[in-house]
Amino acid sequence: MLLIKSGGAGAFPEWERHFAELAPTLEVRAWDDPQADPEDVRHVLCWEPPPGWLVGFPNLRLIISSGAGVDHILRDPYLPLHVPIVRMGGAATIAHMADFVRLGAFSLLRDMPRIIANQANRNWEEFGVPRSSGETRVGVMGLGTLGAPAAVALRDCGFITAGWSRRRRTIPGVRCFEGDAEFAAFLSRTDILVNLLPETDATRGIIDGDTLALLPVGASVLNCGRGSHLVLDDLLLALASGKISGAFLDVTEPEPLPADHPAWRHPRIILSTHVAAIPSRRDRAQFAAEAVATFERGETPDNLYDPNLGY
Ligand code: NDP
Ligand code: OXD
Repeated sequence: MLLIKSGGAGAFPEWERHFAELAPTLEVRAWDDPQADPEDVRHVLCWEPPPGWLVGFPNLRLIISSGAGVDHILRDPYLPLHVPIVRMGGAATIAHMADFVRLGAFSLLRDMPRIIANQANRNWEEFGVPRSSGETRVGVMGLGTLGAPAAVALRDCGFITAGWSRRRRTIPGVRCFEGDAEFAAFLSRTDILVNLLPETDATRGIIDGDTLALLPVGASVLNCGRGSHLVLDDLLLALASGKISGAFLDVTEPEPLPADHPAWRHPRIILSTHVAAIPSRRDRAQFAAEAVATFERGETPDNLYDPNLGY
């Protein structure tokens, strides 16, 4: 049996419909179904499982995260650590993120915060920007399932593209930097910093005042990873000083930010509501059904979380 906790109570009939089409032999139940015997649960598809919930299934074999990040699962202190976790992936997730990263990079390049403010204030202002895409250096932090295709998408848009990851990657047309030793060199050549790292002990708070200081004056930041990666107070200071010219934040810590947080109304910040890559439930059901089938054949599903790496 596959138990589903993702998208709230209203979402289950849709999940059920997609799984009936895509994996007709798989029994699926809603997470709060009183008829679902915990002994029968072998697979779980979830977002933000309540602490102590997963450990209640003695025969659980596979956890599938309904999102690409697994931090929402790992924060469960009772997590059954022997059960493998699959991170959401697949072509739709990758394509949605690449679209959003293109949107974000062009918004920062063309000073979209200023365009939005001018419209809100009925202010007719003609202004140019200093660079075109072909003269702008973007740098993608995290070159994994989502980061590498996002870097390729930016490269194909004409940006001068680089990426940074723990181990060296090779991506044609993308200058790849590796590890802590090359972080400063990566930052110093980056006009638009794009974050697609996972949240781990090593990456929490990684975009702080020190990191921002290493970017060229007037650089901007697009955060699509996790709010915890960015020290928001440091960003606000860097915006105030003019060191950083703008930011596009799809993720914040916490989500949502308190209603009186200055980022909501900051003239140099675009805030979106963690919407960068939300593939349809059908796409996610397809990915999950394939993961279950692969796992049940005794093979390794795609996008398996590695507890040794923490992502
Ligand atoms: P992956 O695990 O596939 O890739 C992670 C990348 O980060 C890898 O390139 C890895 O390096 C690199 N990395 C990890 N730790 C470090 C480190 N300490 N220093 C340098 N590089 C590091 O993750 P995904 O691409 O699938 O997803 C990335 C994140 O995007 C998710 O964890 C989630 O937080 C976020 N996300 C946000 C969404 C949104 O809507 N805003 C939607 C989906 C995901 P290496 O290549 O060497 O392993
Ligand atoms: C995430 C997602 O992990 O939405 O942020 O997939």
